[in-house]
Amino acid sequence: MSIINIPQFQEDLIIWFKNEQRQLPWRENQDPYRVWVSEIMLQQTKVDTVIPYFQNFMDHFPTLTALANADEQKVLKAWEGLGYYSRARNLQTAVREVVEQYDAKVPDDPKQLGNLKGVGPYTKGAILSIAFDKAEPAVDGNVMRVLSRILRIEEDIAKPKTRKTFEAAVRELISEENPSAFNQGLMELGALVCTPKKPSCLLCPVQEHCIAYRDGVEQTLPIKKKKIKQSSHTYFALVIQDDAGNYLLEQRPEQGLLAQLWQFPMVKKNEVDEKHLSAYIQEKFQTEVADINDLEPVKHVFSHLTWFLDVKHVTVKGEITLPTHMEQISKNEIKQYPLPVSHQNIYKQL
Ligand code: ADE
Repeated sequence: MSIINIPQFQEDLIIWFKNEQRQLPWRENQDPYRVWVSEIMLQQTKVDTVIPYFQNFMDHFPTLTALANADEQKVLKAWEGLGYYSRARNLQTAVREVVEQYDAKVPDDPKQLGNLKGVGPYTKGAILSIAFDKAEPAVDGNVMRVLSRILRIEEDIAKPKTRKTFEAAVRELISEENPSAFNQGLMELGALVCTPKKPSCLLCPVQEHCIAYRDGVEQTLPIKKKKIKQSSHTYFALVIQDDAGNYLLEQRPEQGLLAQLWQFPMVKKNEVDEKHLSAYIQEKFQTEVADINDLEPVKHVFSHLTWFLDVKHVTVKGEITLPTHMEQISKNEIKQYPLPVSHQNIYKQL
């Protein structure tokens, strides 16, 4: 962080913001109610879309008290077309709380503000800095993009905990004299110059401070890894015990997930239903099922999929015909076999 000249950076950003900022209706004054409404509307919605909604909303509900007293249907009507309607409901709930608890004044205490419905860390920081001139971070995706480049931060911004890294960075960089212009400057820079694709580095007021520009890596930042979709897989895991007290284990295939590890035999729940489980076991192992009991179910989360194991203890009588890749093993010997964690958790139940 010490690589950048912080006072010079603050000055360059704030002077640029004062000269180049867009005239937006919520920038006419520092009324915390207006700042609050604008920040809620601007979540998941573009500035151009928000402008007419914001003006109409202020015409109908010019003050906190007006919004608190309004009929919910009227509020939703004014929100119609903006989407994410819970934002409007939460806003009204929170505004009513401010009227009742805080004498109709938006609190400037971070805790009180952050406890209001729909006010997350970003909105809280935006209101505190923009309306109350408090040196608090307001980090959203745009601010992460801008700062990931200026400071060459290579953490994955798709991870929720990464926001904390950026909040810490803002706490070091923010101007104590003008936190409002500083934070809005970062937002404006993200909107106008430091755009996701093809940032306009040649026009950037803080280019000389930008480590990513210096290193020629601005187009590769921020780092945002694709979320791998988690899929769920539900199985019966069968703890099959024979007359002699031995258990059946099967070895997993040579390739793929948990390759070659050993496990209690598993069958997908969409391949057999519980009613036919006994018949399935008799058929597969050419044996007679004496009893089936439930053990504790086991859940295991892998990087990209989750197993839900419905664990059954099955006692069988007489001979077993061993399918390929299966062995009959005593309880003690099982310890010698490599088992996945989920099956160790089944073993612990025996
Ligand atoms: N995006 C989020 N907050 C904003 C603001 N106050 N002005 C412009 N764009 C924004």
